[in-house]
Amino acid sequence: MQEAGVNLVSLGIFSWSRLEPAEGNFDFDWFDRVMDLLHEGGIRVDLATATASPPPWLSHQHPEMLPVLADGVKLWPGARQHYCPSSEAYRSAARSLVEAMAQRYAGHPALAMWHVGNEFGCHVPACWCDASAAAFRAWLRDRYGSVDGLNDAWGTDFWSQRYSSWDEILPPRRTPTWPNPSQQLDFMRFSSDALLECYEGEREVLARLSPDIPVTTNFMSFFKPLDYWKWATREDIVSNDSYPDPADSRSGMRAALAGDLMRSLGRGRPWILMEQTANRVNWRDVNVAKEPGQMRLWSYQALARGADGVMFFQWRQSRAGAEKHHSAMVPHGPLDVSPTWNEVVTLGRELAGLDAVCGSQSQADVAMLFDWESWWALELPSKPSNRIHQMEQVEAYYQALFDANVTVDLARPGDDLSRYRLVLAPNLYLVSDEAAASLAGFVEAGGTLVMSFFSGIVDPAEHIRLGGYPKPFQDLLGIHVIDFHPLSYERDIGLRLADGPLARGEVWSEDIRLHGAEVVATFSTSHLAGRPAITRHRAGQGTAFYLGTRPDPKTMARVLEMACASAGVEPAATVPGGVEAVRRSGRGKSILFLLNHRDVAVDVPVAEAGTNLVDGSPVHPGLMPLGPRGVAVIREGW
Ligand code: GLA
Repeated sequence: MQEAGVNLVSLGIFSWSRLEPAEGNFDFDWFDRVMDLLHEGGIRVDLATATASPPPWLSHQHPEMLPVLADGVKLWPGARQHYCPSSEAYRSAARSLVEAMAQRYAGHPALAMWHVGNEFGCHVPACWCDASAAAFRAWLRDRYGSVDGLNDAWGTDFWSQRYSSWDEILPPRRTPTWPNPSQQLDFMRFSSDALLECYEGEREVLARLSPDIPVTTNFMSFFKPLDYWKWATREDIVSNDSYPDPADSRSGMRAALAGDLMRSLGRGRPWILMEQTANRVNWRDVNVAKEPGQMRLWSYQALARGADGVMFFQWRQSRAGAEKHHSAMVPHGPLDVSPTWNEVVTLGRELAGLDAVCGSQSQADVAMLFDWESWWALELPSKPSNRIHQMEQVEAYYQALFDANVTVDLARPGDDLSRYRLVLAPNLYLVSDEAAASLAGFVEAGGTLVMSFFSGIVDPAEHIRLGGYPKPFQDLLGIHVIDFHPLSYERDIGLRLADGPLARGEVWSEDIRLHGAEVVATFSTSHLAGRPAITRHRAGQGTAFYLGTRPDPKTMARVLEMACASAGVEPAATVPGGVEAVRRSGRGKSILFLLNHRDVAVDVPVAEAGTNLVDGSPVHPGLMPLGPRGVAVIREGW
């Protein structure tokens, strides 16, 4: 570990059955030895509460703690994470383990932070058992106060679903056809909260027994089941697990987007890349190996996007168990001939020289609105089109800005947006009155907004906002939409931009009427030919663009270029294609990350003199060579 520059180890994540081999019977001697050994070696510990995989004795004694799917199938022990989040047997056993762990290790000098559970919801994001049904009812009582309130919110007059008592209400178990959409949405809210209660139950023990030690749990990038905005407020440090697929050319963009989310979830605080793989994973159909330099490049990318630490799953590749074909820092074979080990050691050595980066932050003038509730609602079935996927829409915007090296924060609708120049709203299907008002306020005060189709359609109960689409944004956008014309799988639609070129729209088209907006592009095919497709409207001091389709990638880039120009947004640096440029700054420093995602060398123009922190070499204005997947971290002004 010292050779690899390791200074923090996540420990004990799946060790419950060894730490507590029988109920209340703890065996810490072997664990003490590991903690002490790490401490003696100058390595600190991200100590797991070890509750992610319940031991066999627990499910044997309490079979009711096993999770149940919507169709009644029970998930049995034999893998991991086999617990119902609402199970009292699980929760109290977990808390008593945490109590014992905290009592034993709160004062241990190696302890740096607590790692609660692991990847909450990864395998079992929700449970439909009877205990979950009871907990769901309690959650609903809290939310609505009365059965009538619930009936209104769920629109239960439709299909004869009106409830007359709480006892009749169930989670959305498997039904003949679509369950009530408002019920489904509430169940998603409840399920995220139920897991959060598990986390909170453990955190409360830690706060009591070891108040000075920060607490985290590892997120999984854009993980649909958990509302990470809510979760992140309960963490001292945001941490993320990132497993981009080396076989997918969009992986660099996706990992950047996930990094931007983590920085934004922590409201700008540095975060930690808790897990990445040194080389291959084991859980895809084909587990393509990382190219030479790719692990190092993606590690630097996390730093560029605001991480102050880079870690791995896992230290040593195992001999047995379900993950023995997952790569590790220490592979099965000899170290001296392993390119993976060599890259791990290089990275460890380099990171030791990057202290100047710690505590600085990436600054963004652009925010993209992202809301879990809207994501859940958008992707419920029974819509004009099932082709609208939240992440595809988000990525369509983000790819253009990633390619242009414009740094983007993620923001929650309703956040104070006043520090941004440009706000993007990809398909904000569900919106609250407050969030709609804050967006209008942002534009009126001089901001630029780009919003796409099928936004502002429902309220938080998932009821249509009547009065023409998109009701809450009609004045802001200077348009209204008469009806939707979703595109089938085989069909695109022609677009003509006001300044000439022909382009394509994907997924969606609609019949837009103007109320003050000007036309940026019209549809050029179908019966909508000649009608507005993309519009721009001056509202107050600001400008609001509206996209009535998803423009093809080139056109999306052009529209966002227009929006950036109108908002005065600049890229972090002007660099050749395939090179990512991100700036971190703070405490008088400006640090420019240059990351070459290509497998050939490039010369990158550099405007300011400085020092390349990767190797300490001086940087002069002019062309800077970057090797294939090469990186530079330039502290400017030195
Ligand atoms: C997740 C888990 C790890 C391991 C890896 C494999 O990130 O937290 O325990 O299973 O996936 O990629």
